[in-house]
Amino acid sequence: MGKLTGKKAIVTGASRGIGLAIATKLASEGADVAILSTSVKEDLAAKLSAELGVQVKSYACNVADSETVQNVFKQIIADMGTVDILVNNAGITRDGLLMRMKDEDFDAVIATNLRSVFLCTRAVARTMMGKRTGRIINISSINALHGQAGQANYAAAKAGIIGMTRSNAMEFASRGITVNAIAPGFIGTDMTAAMDEATKEKYAAQIPLGRIGKPEDIANAAAFLASDDACYITGQILGVDGGLNA
Ligand SMILES: NC(=O)c1ccc[n+]([C@@H]2O[C@H](COP(=O)([O-])OP(=O)(O)OC[C@H]3O[C@@H](n4cnc5c(N)ncnc54)[C@H](O)[C@@H]3O)[C@@H](O)[C@H]2O)c1
Repeated sequence: MGKLTGKKAIVTGASRGIGLAIATKLASEGADVAILSTSVKEDLAAKLSAELGVQVKSYACNVADSETVQNVFKQIIADMGTVDILVNNAGITRDGLLMRMKDEDFDAVIATNLRSVFLCTRAVARTMMGKRTGRIINISSINALHGQAGQANYAAAKAGIIGMTRSNAMEFASRGITVNAIAPGFIGTDMTAAMDEATKEKYAAQIPLGRIGKPEDIANAAAFLASDDACYITGQILGVDGGLNA
C-alpha cells in the first residue's frame, strides 16, 4: 500500500514538468489525482490511471481566474467526493529588465503565480476544515529568496507565496491542515529549456551537488510533505536546490 492510498489530491499546472512529476508521484503512492492545466489532457490522465491503478482526471482551469477556480474546484470536489491534498504548482515567467517590463507582464505573473495560490487554497479550505485535516503545498522558488535580475515580477510572486504559506499555516493549524512551500532551485523543465547550453552549464557549475535538478526531485519532497510522516511540519519553506541556498 502506498503512503497516500485513498487520498484525493489536486495538482495545478500538472500537464508537464514539475507538476506532472508531482501528480505522477502522488498517484504512484496511491492517491487519486485531479490534474489541472490550461487545457484538458484526457490522454495523459488515462495513461496515468492505467499505469498507476488510481483515478487520474484532467480538468482545464485557468488558476488566475476567480470564477473559473470556484467552478472547477466545486466540480472536482464533487467528482472525487473530497480533497485531502492541494499542490499549488502552476506558474509562468515573463522575464524582462524592470525598466522595460510591461504592466501586463507584471500583472500576468502575479495573477498566475500568486493570486492563484490564494484562489485555489480558498477553494479547498472549507472541505479541509470540515475534515479537520489537509495538506497544502505551494511551489515557490529559490529566486524568491535570492532575487534574480530580470525577474522582479516572478521573484515578487514567489516571495509572496512564502508570506502566504506562513500566514495560512497559522490560520489553518488549529484545523489540522498543514501548509508548506517548496523552493526549487534550477530544475530541468520546459521553463528552463529555453536557456542555451552554455548558460545551463554555468548554472550547473554553481550547484554544490553538481547537477541541475529533475522534476522528480521536487515530486519526492512534495509526496513527503503530503504524507502522514510530515504531520508535524507546517509553515516551512523547504529548499530543494542541490545546495544552492546552503
Ligand atoms: N523549472 C525550474 O527551474 C523552477 C524553479 C523554481 C520554481 N519553479 C516553479 O515550479 C512550477 C512548475 O514549473 P515548471 O518548470 O514545471 O514549468 P512548466 O512551464 O514546464 O509548466 C507549467 C505548468 O503550469 C501550467 N499553467 C501555466 N499557466 C497556467 C494557468 N493560468 N492556469 C493553469 N495552469 C497553468 C502549464 O499548463 C504547465 O502545466 C512553477 O510554479 C515554477 O515557477 C520552477
